[in-house]
Amino acid sequence: MKSSEIKSKFISFFESKGHKAMLGSSLVPKDPTVLLTLAGMLQFKPVFLGQEKPPYRRVTTVQKCIRMVDVERVGKTPRHHTFFEMLGNFSFGDYFKKEAVQFAWELLTREFKLPVTRLKIAVFEKDDEAYDIWRKDIGLPAEIIFRLDEENNFWSAGPTGPCGPCSEIYYDLGEEFGCGKGDCGPGCDCDRFLEIWNLVFIQYNRDESGQLLPLKQKGIDTGMGLERIASVLQGKSDNFETDLFVPLIRKIMAISTAGESDPSARIIADHARAVTHLIADGVFPDNTGRGYVLRRLIRRAVRHGKMIGIKGPFLVDLSSTVIAQMEEAYPALREKSALIAATLKEEEDNFMATLDNGMKLFGELQEAHKADKKITGEEAFRLHDTFGFPIDLTIELADESGMKVD
Ligand code: ALA
Repeated sequence: MKSSEIKSKFISFFESKGHKAMLGSSLVPKDPTVLLTLAGMLQFKPVFLGQEKPPYRRVTTVQKCIRMVDVERVGKTPRHHTFFEMLGNFSFGDYFKKEAVQFAWELLTREFKLPVTRLKIAVFEKDDEAYDIWRKDIGLPAEIIFRLDEENNFWSAGPTGPCGPCSEIYYDLGEEFGCGKGDCGPGCDCDRFLEIWNLVFIQYNRDESGQLLPLKQKGIDTGMGLERIASVLQGKSDNFETDLFVPLIRKIMAISTAGESDPSARIIADHARAVTHLIADGVFPDNTGRGYVLRRLIRRAVRHGKMIGIKGPFLVDLSSTVIAQMEEAYPALREKSALIAATLKEEEDNFMATLDNGMKLFGELQEAHKADKKITGEEAFRLHDTFGFPIDLTIELADESGMKVD
């Protein structure tokens, strides 16, 4: 099933259950407490908090998201990204846990026809109600329902705001993908159990002091990672082998020495999607805030391009592949294509002009600090100021060679 088909099946399934299909929001959120849109629920935060009237009681969206928390895992695992698309259904004071679980189960097992034997469930350890819904209403055996702690199964968009216990649905890729540890199961950090869908039962507002205040109206916020469900439905064990990534990876392979599972090629493919969408949504490279995220991703991509032998600038060309692939769903990409190209070209050219010399200096620093394994603040500043190395890049480079940065 093509990823575009997965999206439309998801949306039409929830339309058939009385949901209104709404557009996802920009990557630049209205909410001032977060830098970038990191989940489908973000545009509905005031609705969950009861500050705004719900546009509809039941809503479904496809939301483009950026999460920087996993940036250093991108390319090293089959399932992490900075940019991804989240499929979601929402209830604002309408249905709650039982229907949310029933809808998810029906979509996965009847529409997407996933084998039940591959699915595992996690619930928040104190949430007996959710446990009972899976056990009794859906009729699942106890062995496949796992009770996990707050870190795994209590979701919030940030330190404050709407939140609640959640229930996750995992796809078991099989023992051969596991870490082999005795306690390996849903929630394990290895690649065996792929979390495909998170159902959040929004029932609290966490205030500044960390207290959980019950909300007047409970709600549902779910998120299914398109890249992950695509890997499952396309019979791959790796997101980068899905139709979302193959055209990009092929293009990168054609201009580099990389093989198809080269981490650098995957990092570039991931970052090309992120930077193209960021610029389309009005972000420009800068030394702070969102602009810094964009700059960091572009410069990371350029460095990885160098590592796999790409000669000359390549990001503009890759962004045109991203645009061609995604313009139907995101028409702004085509409208902003000239701006995207100009912004990428300038930033890439600037960084390329200093990257080689910066890497040379970094090599010298490695030599000079063989004993103490620590780059000084001044040296890190020089890499930033003279050679355009964002501090995170210097830290990453240092980390790769077992060094610290003061
Ligand atoms: N907001 C929930 C998440 O991002 C669905 O996992």
